[in-house]
Amino acid sequence: MYSVIFILPNGEEFIAQANEGESILQVAHKNALQLEGACEGSLACATCHVIVDEAWFDILDELEEPSEQEEDMLDFAFNLTTTSRLGCQIKMCKELDGIKVTIPSENRNIQS
Ligand code: FES
Repeated sequence: MYSVIFILPNGEEFIAQANEGESILQVAHKNALQLEGACEGSLACATCHVIVDEAWFDILDELEEPSEQEEDMLDFAFNLTTTSRLGCQIKMCKELDGIKVTIPSENRNIQS
């Protein structure tokens, strides 16, 4: 079991448990957090946009850089930051145990 620290849109911290291979989006859904994920991880919506804590962003980047498709989709995300990623593309592993991500207060669904 790993842990994921979510900073919720209201600024509160929520610590969730995650299994190996689970995506940040799946972990958020398991805990009924407000992260939409309209396309359920098929890289077609950008509503799973999360802002990764800077230190963790570098670790994540070293593990696996975002795919071109993820980068393209991120361009549509609302409130994009330099440490933005798509929650459906971050898969939990031991290197990411304790990762901290912020759920933005608004996410845009480009499908609608
Ligand atoms: S859930 Fe749609 S891009 Fe991640």
